[in-house]
Amino acid sequence: MALPLIGPAADLEAFVNAKFLFDYISTIMPQDAPGSLSKQDYLDVLSFLLVENGIVPGERVMTPNQIENFPLQK
Ligand code: HEM
Repeated sequence: MALPLIGPAADLEAFVNAKFLFDYISTIMPQDAPGSLSKQDYLDVLSFLLVENGIVPGERVMTPNQIENFPLQK
């Protein structure tokens, strides 16, 4: 069981900025194979989560430099 990652009940703001969310995802997720994906895969899934939650405009892929202090408030 986990909080939804997309939609009104998602709580990505709790991660403060995209760097903290990236660090969480890229070290702890997927929970059954933590840290098993490539850095680009984690950037892609982070970008997907930010676009789907309306935090960044569509089709925007985040680069490592851009996520550094990127606030997660909608
Ligand atoms: C790339 C794939 C994945 C991504 C990006 C991802 C992302 C996340 C994020 C961002 C959270 C925190 C949610 C929050 O606190 O608001 C989370 C929590 C969680 N995820 Fe994943 N997840 C992935 C795959 C998985 C898989 C495959 C599993 C299960 C096998 C899983 C199980 C969980 C669980 C149980 C939590 C809750 C952890 C807790 O409450 O401490 N996740 N995930």
